Amino acid sequence: MTEYNTVLAPVLSAFWDQPNSWTLETYLKNGGYEGLKKAFAQKPEDLIQTIKDSGLRGRGGAGFPTGMKWGFLPPADGGPRYLVVNADESEPGTCKDIPLMMAAPQFLVEGVIITSYAIGSNHAFIYLRGEVVHVYRRLLRAVEEAYAAGYLGKNIQGTGFDLDVTVHAGAGAYICGEETALLDSLEGRRGQPRLKPPFPATAGLYARPTVVNNVESVASVPQIINRGADWFTSMGTERSSGNGLFSLSGHVTRPGQYEAPL
Ligand SMILES: Cc1cc2nc3c(=O)[nH]c(=O)nc-3n(C[C@H](O)[C@H](O)[C@H](O)COP(=O)(O)O)c2cc1C
Repeated sequence: MTEYNTVLAPVLSAFWDQPNSWTLETYLKNGGYEGLKKAFAQKPEDLIQTIKDSGLRGRGGAGFPTGMKWGFLPPADGGPRYLVVNADESEPGTCKDIPLMMAAPQFLVEGVIITSYAIGSNHAFIYLRGEVVHVYRRLLRAVEEAYAAGYLGKNIQGTGFDLDVTVHAGAGAYICGEETALLDSLEGRRGQPRLKPPFPATAGLYARPTVVNNVESVASVPQIINRGADWFTSMGTERSSGNGLFSLSGHVTRPGQYEAPL
């Protein structure tokens, strides 16, 4: 086992084996919402800088730098802007966002709050693959718990920041994982990719500035804010820092989810 432990870096998966790992209570016992506290003590632009400094790259496939994506949104114009979480995971052999939302959904909820605060969004959407009904229920409950504890809704933790989160169950089409097809689907249309430009940063959901990020990207944010960019860059490689969830499946001795440095 020691051989395994030297290569693993459990953060998002650190307490999946604890009883009721999915509850807010367990999350708080394991240091949950410490990142949010630190985030609210900072200016949104400083949070974007920390994420840039951390070198976090999108975990949805393309590996685009997350802080840079957030920085592409135009200056606030008084109208709405949105965070959309891509939870449509359906790449064959990929099974990490769904277990994460099943085992410890509060990482994502806290990440949604910090990201929304950083980009100035008051309404976030989580677009989930519809056939994972058990994950849908668990996410709905996680969001409900966060509202009840004052982490979502109006005047969050007395900061004056408001945020609503909508969990949307898609119909389950692989193409709806592509971010612009996802946006069309979320708007109620048939999910087909849009022509770019315009990019979602300028005209995304309802033609408003939008950040689309993968579940794991967003869920990684609270611990980066809590522990610092240097902690994150201490793992992984120079061009691809941090840790990630890896799915081992097929003809291997120990299939499963492993969290390890990149
Ligand atoms: C056909 C297709 C399917 C995709 N499916 C997913 C998906 O299921 N989940 C996901 O996060 N990104 C998926 N992507 C990538 C998204 O378009 C987008 O790059 C990603 O959600 C951005 O998030 P990130 O920057 O945090 O990685 C897909 C892309 C294509 C072209």
